[in-house]
Amino acid sequence: MSEDLSFDLVIIGSGPGGYTGAIRASQLGLKTAIVEKDSTFGGTCLNVGCIPSKALLDSSEHYHVAQHELAQHGVDVSGVTLQLDKLIQRKNDIVKSLTDGVAFLMKKNKVQNFHGFGKITGQNEVTVKTTDGPVKLQAKNIMLATGSVANELPFLKYDEKKVVSSTGALSLEQVPKKLLVIGAGVIGLELGSVWNRLGAEVTVLEYANKICGPMDAKTSKKLQSLLKKQGLNIITKAKVTGADIKPDATSVTYEDMKSGDSMSLDADVVLVATGRRPFSDGLGMEELGIEKNDRGFVLTNNRFQTKFPNVYAIGDLTPGPMLAHKAEEEGVAVAEIIAGNFGHVNYDTVPSVVYTWPEMASVGKTEEDLKTEGRAYNAGQFPFTANGRAKAMASTDGHVKVLADKTTDQILGVHILGPRASDMISEAVIAMEFAGSAEDLALSFHAHPTLSEVMREAALDVHKRARQM
Ligand code: NAI
Repeated sequence: MSEDLSFDLVIIGSGPGGYTGAIRASQLGLKTAIVEKDSTFGGTCLNVGCIPSKALLDSSEHYHVAQHELAQHGVDVSGVTLQLDKLIQRKNDIVKSLTDGVAFLMKKNKVQNFHGFGKITGQNEVTVKTTDGPVKLQAKNIMLATGSVANELPFLKYDEKKVVSSTGALSLEQVPKKLLVIGAGVIGLELGSVWNRLGAEVTVLEYANKICGPMDAKTSKKLQSLLKKQGLNIITKAKVTGADIKPDATSVTYEDMKSGDSMSLDADVVLVATGRRPFSDGLGMEELGIEKNDRGFVLTNNRFQTKFPNVYAIGDLTPGPMLAHKAEEEGVAVAEIIAGNFGHVNYDTVPSVVYTWPEMASVGKTEEDLKTEGRAYNAGQFPFTANGRAKAMASTDGHVKVLADKTTDQILGVHILGPRASDMISEAVIAMEFAGSAEDLALSFHAHPTLSEVMREAALDVHKRARQM
């Protein structure tokens, strides 16, 4: 008997958006299939993105701490050496255990998987190019969750050895003597930090006048000065104009936009981290007339529907922040909508995190946004230097800033630079999800002594009632 290949939902792409959506769809009783072109599940995030970069950030942080910070705790570990191959293997093992974990979750949730390149060949049909030939799946609904790929500069094509995207920068075989990073966004700063800690001389060229694009200006300026202290040579207002790739080194030319001078820098490895673009090559969008904007993002309505109401698009493929957790929420929302439930994503509370040390995390509006909107607000800020736990950890750089509406006191934005900012931001997200006020945060218990007390003090400072300092 031939296999029944008709589904309530066929998802193309098994990144966080796709696999999370698949699990929810299956929980809701939808017969679900997932199509993945790569040999493992998990997409960019698990294979060559969020997870492996965090593994390298944590390992390199341990190396840095052992070399430079343990002595102040009275711990003598002289003779620290780096075994890069072990460090990279550990990262690979973590990736394997998580991608295997997703395969297990697909099986457990009875999501049928198809390995091969998926293409929409009709409003209700997906064709998968498998190693055994094309397989046609019939789909009542289709979710496009194919993610994004790294932008390439025309004069710096990736060979993933000397000119690398984030993918190559996760697996360098030796610590480069000189690493040149183009772009002081999230990837440039995270992977620049990794290789700086491991011993590379790192220079970062950034087109804008500050790092971290749209994040809170004062907070990112502070991070910029801390990273400079750690040894990252960050050059802003630098417009990269060309490159000469030679066997022993790559020479990159840039215009110093402050002076107008043309400059050049040599490096053994160049990491291009100038953003990512949605990946819809070969997906069948043009043939079906599914609309994209001028930057290639698929256009949908507020129910994630393309021009075909049963064809949905989510995650990096669609406009908005390119973040795994945004894709996850959208994948789940689509599953709910297909099942006839309410599917909603609150885009006002999407947190973003830069996993440098200290970390920078933020949610909601920045002061710059509020000024542009002409919205009256109160700001409260509190430094980690005055926090007992941060002192005990010897990690006192940074602050928390809380922005609240001047009239209603509703929290509009929270910006953290400090130890474990990535974990602390959740409190702000929840407060904002419940339309909480600065006073709500300020009057809630925060265990003592914890880093989270800085959040409370910043909230108290909105009404100039901070107690410590
Ligand atoms: P990005 O958009 O964060 O930063 C790119 C930077 O490159 C910008 O500051 C831009 O001004 C600069 N730039 C662009 N062209 C340039 C040029 N020719 N010369 C000099 N500078 C130039 O992009 P990034 O870091 O590549 O990350 C891509 C995406 O991946 C982002 O949307 C990010 O949110 C996501 N991501 C998120 C992570 C996280 O949540 N921790 C980690 C890694 C990536």
